[in-house]
Amino acid sequence: MDSRVVVITGASSGIGAALARNLGARGDRLVLGARRMDRLKQVAAESGSQAIAAATDVTRRKDMENLRDVALREYGHIDVWVNNAGWATGKTVMELTDEEFQGVIDVVLKSVLYGMQTVVPHFQGRGKGHLINVSSTLGRVPLVSYRSIYSAAKSGVNVLTANLRMDLRARYPGISVSLVLPGIVDTEFHLVARTPMATKAGTHVGAATVLAPEEVATQIAGLIDSPIAELYVPASGAELAKQYYQDVGAFEERMARW
Ligand SMILES: NC(=O)c1ccc[n+]([C@@H]2O[C@H](COP(=O)([O-])OP(=O)(O)OC[C@H]3O[C@@H](n4cnc5c(N)ncnc54)[C@H](OP(=O)(O)O)[C@@H]3O)[C@@H](O)[C@H]2O)c1
Repeated sequence: MDSRVVVITGASSGIGAALARNLGARGDRLVLGARRMDRLKQVAAESGSQAIAAATDVTRRKDMENLRDVALREYGHIDVWVNNAGWATGKTVMELTDEEFQGVIDVVLKSVLYGMQTVVPHFQGRGKGHLINVSSTLGRVPLVSYRSIYSAAKSGVNVLTANLRMDLRARYPGISVSLVLPGIVDTEFHLVARTPMATKAGTHVGAATVLAPEEVATQIAGLIDSPIAELYVPASGAELAKQYYQDVGAFEERMARW
């Protein structure tokens, strides 16, 4: 198997950490970014023999450029870049403060722009590469009102991802651009984002089963092997989206009855 060079943001916990361990085990060379260096170094130590931890705040363009430069300096090129870092508040539209609004936009949406603008010129120079943005089912189906600005920011991620893919398609057929839309995953995200119910892997929240981060990581590893435009995890998210767009009013009424 080829050893690929993969950069992952938000790798100090949750899905990013699980993905690092998964790819490290198959021999990929990794550059991991996040702010909590103690946690990040621990994940790097658990992710094969060639994983580097680089302190990164994804809301700073210079930090993202540094993440790229660490990978280029250590490994000479980048095969895959995963914009995974994320954060949410538990506030409805009417409760949001300016700071919360801006904070989520910066971590969720601006960071993805920075990631894309940072690595795509490198991919264009090589004529190949794979850009993966981790979104959320909530970015397509905004069914949880206390995730208001988070869902709005993830919708923006979906749009930027689709636009970049369309822009590159004709001149750079060797570059893949993918969107991952996870459902509910058992990570620290829910502590930080004040999810008001238990989110232990295997339990049910409405019709959804909470996933372990390792399950999402396995799916993203499969996506790296065989790139596609969009990956819902679980796959039933695609059906949810279809039902939503068929009749938004009826869908919201059904949700309200739950
Ligand atoms: N958990 C879910 O139910 C769920 C569902 C759908 C989508 N997602 C998405 O999945 C992705 C991963 O989230 P997770 O569930 O694995 O949550 P998590 O365990 O809380 O991980 C979030 C990661 O993002 C990093 N991060 C946050 N702000 C950052 C910043 N300013 N700069 C750099 N890194 C930052 C954190 O690292 P540091 O704090 O160390 O910087 C951490 O590594 C996110 O994009 C999230 O929106 C999660």
